[in-house]
Amino acid sequence: PKVAVLMGGPSAEREVSLASGRECVAALRDGGYEVVEVDAGPDLALRLAEIQPDVVFNALHGRWGEDGCVQGILEWMGLPYTHSGVLASALAMDKQRSKDVFRAAGLPVMESVIAPRDDVKARHVLNPPYVVKPNNEGSSVGVYLVNEAANSPPQLSDDMPDMVMVETYAPGRELTTTVMGDRALAVTDILTDGWYDYDAKYKMGGSRHVVPADIPAEIYQACLKFAVVAHNALGCRGVSRTDFRWDEARGLDGLVLLETNTQPGMTPTSLSPEQAQEIGMTFAEFCAWMVEDASC
Ligand code: DAL
Ligand code: MG
Repeated sequence: PKVAVLMGGPSAEREVSLASGRECVAALRDGGYEVVEVDAGPDLALRLAEIQPDVVFNALHGRWGEDGCVQGILEWMGLPYTHSGVLASALAMDKQRSKDVFRAAGLPVMESVIAPRDDVKARHVLNPPYVVKPNNEGSSVGVYLVNEAANSPPQLSDDMPDMVMVETYAPGRELTTTVMGDRALAVTDILTDGWYDYDAKYKMGGSRHVVPADIPAEIYQACLKFAVVAHNALGCRGVSRTDFRWDEARGLDGLVLLETNTQPGMTPTSLSPEQAQEIGMTFAEFCAWMVEDASC
């Protein structure tokens, strides 16, 4: 089959997507697929009409590629595509609305509010420590941590959206679980010297990943279960990855769900491919599974 791999695009995660896309293109070619690379731009629909792929492999991240926009184009064109559909993508990308869905499903999340950027710059909207982030970006782009000792509110850059999410800081270890179809793959414990920010995520050696995570069985099982519940509650399809924080001192009560990513990174430092490997799947097999699972 002919596979069009969508990558790049205009989001803040463009470079991450190009890195994901390159890996997926190479792996699919190795697996014997005919692959066409597509740097997603305003002429995307025209390009796809020319290429006439059997399947579209979505390696986009962030706005337009992960939030239901591109999924809508593909539905309209009747092209089977990988990962989640329109509604699940849009819901997952909206961090605040996805929390409403998670709460309704009984999943633990931190308190948060959506507030005007100027209010957040003028006063503490929540009691510190808290985190300020765009409601709809990934890869820790535009994330501010306001710690307990901070006297003044954060000096947000003018690049931040007019409305931002302010969330009570969840302390503890950074854990993550990939769901593939109806199966949770593994739990990874992400060890960093500081914040798991953009550099720690994508620089080689920026973080150390322990998979399977060396944590109590009760917490490990809870992550697997919560990730599947989150995937299903949002209506995700194919592969998703759910991120957690775990405050060890508080046991199971210290586990909170941060977010579900409907287009998990596929770069050389990314977490989901490592978890696939943990269950015995090569990167090429993982990509091929996504292609076979694609629909519209
Ligand atoms: N937003 C990045 C790509 C991830 O969640 O893996
Ligand atoms: Mg994310």
